[in-house]
Amino acid sequence: MYKIAVAGTGYVGLVAGVCFAEVGHQVTCVDIDEKKVNVMKSGVSPIYETGLEKLMQKNYAAERIDYTTDYNSAYKNADAIFIGVGTPERRDGSANLSYIATVARQIAESIEKDCLVVVKSTVPVGTNDKVEQFIQDFLVNDVKVEVASNPEFLAQGSAVHDTLHAERIIIGTESKWAEELLMKIYKPFNLPIVSVNRRSAEMIKYASNDFLALKISYMNDIANLCELVGADVQDVAKGMSYDARIGNKFLNAGIGYGGSCFPKDTKALENIAKQHGYELRTVKAAIDVNKDQKTLLYKKASKRLITFNGLKVAVLGLTFKPGTDDLREAASLENVPLLLEQGADIYAYDPVGASNFAKVHPEGKNGKGNITYVTNVKEALDSANVCFIFTEWGEVKAVTPGKYRELMRTPLVYDGRNIYSIDEMKEAGVEYHSIGRKAVEREVAKESRNIELQTVRS
Ligand code: UDX
Repeated sequence: MYKIAVAGTGYVGLVAGVCFAEVGHQVTCVDIDEKKVNVMKSGVSPIYETGLEKLMQKNYAAERIDYTTDYNSAYKNADAIFIGVGTPERRDGSANLSYIATVARQIAESIEKDCLVVVKSTVPVGTNDKVEQFIQDFLVNDVKVEVASNPEFLAQGSAVHDTLHAERIIIGTESKWAEELLMKIYKPFNLPIVSVNRRSAEMIKYASNDFLALKISYMNDIANLCELVGADVQDVAKGMSYDARIGNKFLNAGIGYGGSCFPKDTKALENIAKQHGYELRTVKAAIDVNKDQKTLLYKKASKRLITFNGLKVAVLGLTFKPGTDDLREAASLENVPLLLEQGADIYAYDPVGASNFAKVHPEGKNGKGNITYVTNVKEALDSANVCFIFTEWGEVKAVTPGKYRELMRTPLVYDGRNIYSIDEMKEAGVEYHSIGRKAVEREVAKESRNIELQTVRS
C-alpha cells in the first residue's frame, strides 16, 4: 500500500482520495480552505455525492484518510501526489491553469523523496510536459520526480460508484518507473487499465467528453428536426439504440447539456485546436447546438404567451441534472433571468439545488420579476399559469399528469426532459410542449378535458 497525497478536495480530488483510502492506501487530502478541512475532518462531505460521506467516515475512523491545509507535511514523504484542483474556463474558452501551477510549485518545494505526480485535472494536451519541467525547475531537494496523466471520468451523482467500478482507468506515462508505480497503485481496484503516453492520455479525456457532448447535441439537433417533420425523437432514439455501434446511452434529447465538464471541455478543445491553426468543426457544432437548445422552451413559450409579466411561473428543477446540487451551466441559469426580465412571478422547486440558486437569485424581487423558493412541487404548481421542467428529479417525475390540470390555473407545461408521454398528457387535458415530439396543443388538451368532464357528468 502506498502513501498518497491528493491536492484539491473538489469532486475529483475528494472522491479519488476517499476511494484510494477505501482500497487500503494511506491518504492525505490537501486543501487551502481551513473551514472545509475541518468540515471534512468532522465526517461531513462538502459536496452532495451519493455514498461519499459514509466512506469518508469509515476511512477516517480507520485512519486511512486525513485532511489538512499543511501541504508540506502531506507532500514531503508521499509516494505519489494526485492533483485534482480545478481548471476553470477563461473568458476565451481556454483552461485556467493557475491552480495547477500553484500546487506544482508547492510540490517542488516540499518533496523529500522520489515521487510521482499524477495529474487528474483536465488539462490541455501537452500541459503535463510543462508541469514536469516546472516542478523540476523549482525542485529544492535532489529527488526524482515525474508527472503522469490520469484523467477522471466520474459523473456527478454517481462519482464514488464510477471510481470504484470504472469501465477503464487511463494512465499516461513517459517512463517504465511511472507506469509500473501507477499500475501498482490501481491494482487493488481490479479494473481494466489502458496505458498510453502522456499526451494521448490527456487527449483521451477531451475526446471522450466531447464525443458525449456531440452525441447529445446531435440528438438535440435531430429532435428539433423531428418536430418539424412530425417524428418522435424518443422513438427515433429507441430505434437507433439497438445498433450496438451506436449504443443505448446518451441519446436523450433535452434542453442541452450542462455541468462542469461538457461545456468546459468542448470549448477548451476547440480552443486547443485553434491554437494549432485547426478548426474543430464537429465540436464547434456541438457547442452551437447546445447554446440554442438551452433557451428553446423559453422561446417556444414566449411565442405562445406573448409576455410573462405578472404570470405565476412554476420552475421544476434547477440543477444541471438530478442527484447533485451543482448548478454549473444549468439551463435554469439561462432561463430564469430571461423570465425575471419579463416580470415573471417564479415559484421554483428543487430538492437540493435551491439554496445554491438563491445565492445567484435571492428570494424576493429580482428586477421586474419575483422569485420564491418552495419546498414541494404542489406549492410551485398551485395556481400557476405555466410550468417549466428543467431537471428530471424523481420528485418531479412522480407528479402525475392529472396534478398539473388539478393544481395549475392553466395547465400549460414546457418539459425540457421529456418526462411524460404525449398520450398521458393529452388524456389528462394538459397543454404540453416537450423536445423533439409532437405538442399537445391547447385545443386538443381542452377537447380531451371536455370529453372527460362529460364522461364524469354522465
Ligand atoms: C460528465 C461525464 O459523464 C463524465 O464522464 C465526465 O468525467 C464529466 O462529465 P457529468 O457532467 O457529471 O459527467 O454528468 P452527465 O451525467 O454526463 O450529464 C451531463 C449533462 O448532459 C447533463 O446536463 C445531462 O442532463 C445531459 N445529458 C446527458 C443529456 O442531455 N442527454 C443525455 O442523453 C445524457
